Amino acid sequence: MRITQAEYVKSAMHTADFPSDGRVEIAFVGRSNVGKSSLLNALLGKKGLAKTSGTPGKTRTLNFFSVNNKYYFVDLPGYGFAKVPLKVKDEWGMALIEYLQSRRTLELVVLLLDGRREPSGLDLEMLELLDEARRPVLVVATKVDKLKQGERAKLSKGLRSALGLAADAEVVAVSAETGSGIKDLWEILDDVLTKST
Ligand code: GTP
Ligand code: MG
Repeated sequence: MRITQAEYVKSAMHTADFPSDGRVEIAFVGRSNVGKSSLLNALLGKKGLAKTSGTPGKTRTLNFFSVNNKYYFVDLPGYGFAKVPLKVKDEWGMALIEYLQSRRTLELVVLLLDGRREPSGLDLEMLELLDEARRPVLVVATKVDKLKQGERAKLSKGLRSALGLAADAEVVAVSAETGSGIKDLWEILDDVLTKST
């Protein structure tokens, strides 16, 4: 998809404050520091659109970005930062879970995992929560520029097995730093967006 418009719209924590114009939405979820905001910027071709940081816990609200005046991409607060289980009801956790469970216009959840790490217990909890909410999920491995060739070759298979996904489940490996995999990811997102509108 050619990006003709990409802008920050608003931050919100409660359903009543989320955009209500019915646009189709894709959300980016994952532990703190995994690279959600960076990936969003890489996809939209705008550095600095979503605020990134080397310190975990940068994104603390749900941030809505308008894409081509037609869709929303939603940058979510990371989990694992406050060192509490996903379902402990702190304010961010509540907002995140409520959003993921009940947002009507949410067509796809992109679950980001750090390509250098084993998925954590929280990642598995998140996958389970999304499964229970019957959300379509796409797993994306981030920061693959940090991996050696050999590690990269084994990445998708390793993640599928660690997450208990089907052998043909899509796992996209990306680097927001080098742009590797961004085109492949766009192809999938494009498909989701076109089919839903
Ligand atoms: P929170 O908002 O805290 O949940 O973090 P986030 O998931 O939005 O992560 P963010 O995009 O802020 O990136 C965290 C750190 O990882 C930053 O220092 C980024 O520069 C770095 N980073 C993100 N993507 C990549 C990547 O593809 N490669 C490398 N090498 N570093 C990356
Ligand atoms: Mg962020």
